[in-house]
Amino acid sequence: MDAQSAVSRAEAAGAEEARDVVQGTRDGFTSKLGVIAATLGSAVGLGNIWKFPSLTGSNGGAAFIIIYLICTVLVGLPVMISEIMLGRKMKANAVTTLRKVAPKGQPWWLIGVSGVLAAFLIMAFYTEVAGWVFAYIFKAAFGAILSTDPEVTSQAFVALISDPMQSLFWQWAVLVFISVIIIAGVSKGIEKTVKRSLPLLFVLLVIVGVRSLTLPGASQGLAFLFTPDFSAVTGATLLTAMGLAFFKLSVGMGTMITYGSYARDDQDIPSSTTRVMLADLTVSILAGIAIFPAVFAFGFEPDAGPSLLFITIPAVFASMPFGQFFIVIFFILAASAATGAMLSLLEVPVAYLNEQMHWSRLKATLVTSIVLALIGSTAALSSSVLADVTVLGMNFFDLYDSVTSKILLPLGGLCISIFVGWFWGFDEIKQALSNEGALQNQTIIRVFYGIVKFVTPVLLAVVMLNGLGIITF
Ligand code: TRP
Repeated sequence: MDAQSAVSRAEAAGAEEARDVVQGTRDGFTSKLGVIAATLGSAVGLGNIWKFPSLTGSNGGAAFIIIYLICTVLVGLPVMISEIMLGRKMKANAVTTLRKVAPKGQPWWLIGVSGVLAAFLIMAFYTEVAGWVFAYIFKAAFGAILSTDPEVTSQAFVALISDPMQSLFWQWAVLVFISVIIIAGVSKGIEKTVKRSLPLLFVLLVIVGVRSLTLPGASQGLAFLFTPDFSAVTGATLLTAMGLAFFKLSVGMGTMITYGSYARDDQDIPSSTTRVMLADLTVSILAGIAIFPAVFAFGFEPDAGPSLLFITIPAVFASMPFGQFFIVIFFILAASAATGAMLSLLEVPVAYLNEQMHWSRLKATLVTSIVLALIGSTAALSSSVLADVTVLGMNFFDLYDSVTSKILLPLGGLCISIFVGWFWGFDEIKQALSNEGALQNQTIIRVFYGIVKFVTPVLLAVVMLNGLGIITF
């Protein structure tokens, strides 16, 4: 590029920024692509790399993926569209958006409050898993977790999670890292970071995927991923798949309301959310392809549950040539995925405190992070000093995970779909999703309306009641 065109490019970029400033004083994403990148950065996370493969592994493979897909399209996506639509309309944090959008006196804002609570509970265990991921990058680089024997990698993992100092150190280090980015702001912190981390994640995932697929015996892993067996599917499986769909798309608790509030008025919401959903799904499937063929090729068990990532994966990769290199790459990609997701979680309470209590971003972030470090430590210590403390038969880590995925997120999604489908009204939806008539997407809007009104709430209610054992069929 010559100097002249560099200058004119810089001027064009400056003009774009200036236009955004004129749009309002509120910070926001700087372009349509920025919105998609941030939303995708939120959706893609440990859910793709830690939850999706391990849940697929322990729930029978392809059959689980199909149910998950149905939940994603009929429940997750409609709630995502609803959240972004409401957030953009009101240009405010989750609680304020729901307060402003609902008729006076109706307590819909409680969904926002439950969302802020859910953000804390998810972050409490999420930062811990992210802490392990960051720790594994260093441990792998220095050779500490390298063994082809799952017994040995299992001992290494147990040594990490049962050491209170190490667990707290890595969790808090992650919190500091995320807080620094959040303090920098929506466009200069969040957007900038995910625009770098997402391409990195994608490239690394493809490298590991190709390696895994080219191992002798890889086809068995593909068969496991793509040949459905519905015999193992129960009500609990359905609820797990539904919970995963919510967790994956970051919906049901106000993250997408908050991000929607930073979206631009000319954004085509149905089209960009669908693209985000498809891209997120691609990452999950790629993660499955990176993991299962390798697992089968080296004769490991696929149904390893959550330990798959930290016990089986290191042993599997250590078994192949340049294993150490691939383990380091794998955990770097997991860390970059986790980063975008954590930013979106932390942004929910920060935006609320910033706008509602008029705290500076710095103060809002510091206070939130300190509270998070305290709640989070109960999860971090749940395999060591707090191992014997259980609620409903679960330690704190599992409790936060279960309560959010199986109750808070689906409940939030149920309320949002009922609000949008039954209370907000078709005309408001039409205005909002067609960008006040600028887009010719009538049919899509009608399909969305039908689904969010009749399909999403019913499916959600039935799956939740069934999964919690309240109704059986
Ligand atoms: N979607 C992220 C993942 O898959 C996690 C996440 C980020 C999330 N923000 C959220 C989950 C909000 C629920 C709600 O890892």
